[in-house]
Amino acid sequence: MNLDFGNKVVVITGAGLGIGRAAARMFAKHGAKVAVIDLNEDHARNTVEAIGAEGGTAAYFVADVSQEEQVKNCFRGVLDKWGRVDVLINNAGIYYQGKITDTPLAVWEKVMAVNVRGAYLCAREAVAIMEKQGGGVIINVASEAGLVGIKGQVVYNVSKAALIGLTRSLAVDHAPAIRVNCLCPGTTATPLVEESVRRSGDAEKARRELEQIRPMNRLGLPDEQAAALLFLASHEISYATGAVLCVDGGYTAQ
Ligand SMILES: NC(=O)c1ccc[n+]([C@@H]2O[C@H](COP(=O)([O-])OP(=O)(O)OC[C@H]3O[C@@H](n4cnc5c(N)ncnc54)[C@H](O)[C@@H]3O)[C@@H](O)[C@H]2O)c1
Repeated sequence: MNLDFGNKVVVITGAGLGIGRAAARMFAKHGAKVAVIDLNEDHARNTVEAIGAEGGTAAYFVADVSQEEQVKNCFRGVLDKWGRVDVLINNAGIYYQGKITDTPLAVWEKVMAVNVRGAYLCAREAVAIMEKQGGGVIINVASEAGLVGIKGQVVYNVSKAALIGLTRSLAVDHAPAIRVNCLCPGTTATPLVEESVRRSGDAEKARRELEQIRPMNRLGLPDEQAAALLFLASHEISYATGAVLCVDGGYTAQ
C-alpha cells in the first residue's frame, strides 16, 4: 500500500489539538508538507514544532475558519509558501450540548458558522486551486452525530449532518478531478471530549458512559482517526468519492 505523501501539500484546519494535530503529525511522517490552520496560535505553533522535532515539514496559519477574509489569507499564504494544495481536511469544529430550547440563537449561529460555513469557505478556496492544478482531495470531518440523532446536542448533530451533505454535493460537482469524502469519527479521546467530560460533574461516570454505549467499549484514539484520514487522502482509495467512513467503535452499527 502506498501512503507516501512526499511533495504533497496537505492543509488541515483545527490542527492545533486533537484529531487535527494527530493527522498533521501522521501526514508529515508520510512526507507531506502540512499547513496547520488554527484559531489558537499557541496550539498551532506546538503542532508545527512537534512535526519539526520529528523531522517533518509544516507551517502554521492562524485563522478563524468561519471568517472569509482570514480563510482567503491562509490559502494565499499556503500558495505563497508551497504553490499548491493537494489535500484539504476540514477538521476544525466546536461542540455544544443542549436541546433546542437550551440552544440560544447566537450559539446556533456560532456552531453552524464554525462547523459548516468554515468548511464551505475552506472548500471553496481549495476547489478553485485544485481545479487549476488538475485535482486534489477534500475530506470533511463530520461525526457519528451527523448520521444519527444523539440526544441533547441538536445544533452539533445538524452541523455534522450538513457536512455529509456538503461532501456528497462537492463530490458530484467536482468528480473526477477532485475526490471529496467524509470521516465520521465516534467519540475520541481529545481535548474537546475531555472538556465535556470534565464539565459533566462526575468525569469518571461520564467517561464510562461514553465508552459503554459503543460495541468496542472504549473511546477512539486521535491516531485511529488520523490513520483513516491518511487512507482517505491516499491514491489507494482512488475510486471513493462522496463516501462516508464511520470510525466509531460500532456506535452507528447498532
Ligand atoms: N473528539 C471526538 O470525539 C469527535 C467525534 C466526532 C467528531 N469530531 C470532530 O472532529 C473534529 C476535531 O475534533 P477534536 O476532538 O480533535 O477537537 P479539539 O477541540 O480537541 O480541537 C479542535 C481544534 O480546532 C480549533 N478550532 C476551533 N474553532 C476553530 C475555528 N473557528 N477556526 C480554526 N480553528 C478552530 C481549536 O483551536 C482546536 O485546536 C471536530 O470537527 C469535531 O467535531 C470529534
